Amino acid sequence: MNRIVNFAHRGASAVCPENTMVAFRRGLELGATGIETDVQMTNDGKLVLIHDEKLERTTTGTGYVKDHTLEELQKLDAGSWFGRDFGGETLPTLEDLLQLLQGQDIILNIELKNGVFLYPGMEEKVIEAVKAFNMSEQVLLSSFNHYSLAYCKRLAPEIRTGILYMEGLYRPWDYAATIGATALHAYHYAVIPEFVSEAAEHGVDYHPFTVNDPERMKVLLEAGVSGIITDYPDVLAKLLAAKGV
Ligand code: G3P
Ligand code: MG
Repeated sequence: MNRIVNFAHRGASAVCPENTMVAFRRGLELGATGIETDVQMTNDGKLVLIHDEKLERTTTGTGYVKDHTLEELQKLDAGSWFGRDFGGETLPTLEDLLQLLQGQDIILNIELKNGVFLYPGMEEKVIEAVKAFNMSEQVLLSSFNHYSLAYCKRLAPEIRTGILYMEGLYRPWDYAATIGATALHAYHYAVIPEFVSEAAEHGVDYHPFTVNDPERMKVLLEAGVSGIITDYPDVLAKLLAAKGV
């Protein structure tokens, strides 16, 4: 990745219901050059894009994603919680998003939500889908479950991985290297600007999340991050344009 990637977090989630097709499309319209999304698994082993393990916050359903079939989940409304205009949005599958981005110069960051439930077989299914769309180079896998990322690396060494973390890890670029990860998806308060260039010297990209304050974006850009994950890709796009990058 040479350019600074503007990742729309769950799509353009400030203005659209997160992790829906309308949010992903809007993210691209607002200048995102990357999309971040969250994947969970249904009880019939399908990959569905939703942040929470449970359905209540962002859909008309109840209970856990893992206890429903994809067919059941696709009947739910995943938009009206956000606003009346979005009624009728449904939960996308990973394949829906791969199809949207295939052939576009956009990085897709797939966050495997396998920290609470381990979803055995999820890694294989995600990688199989990415390969079926021939998008290994376009995809970056991340997770708070680093065992899972190590496993992904063994399954598909050619697909990039990024470690998600919340706290001030010591030399996280060294740690990332132990599982073959080349990106640090750090909670942005855990990023110490002075160390960003050291990570870069070790071939590791910082992609802090979730940065919505333009002043904080500026500090991180100045420090040399390789990308930023934001709910406001339009705000970041303006800053990047002003910097000419
Ligand atoms: O991938 C960055 C960020 O999405 C991680 O946290 O909870 O928003 O999925 P969360
Ligand atoms: Mg996420």
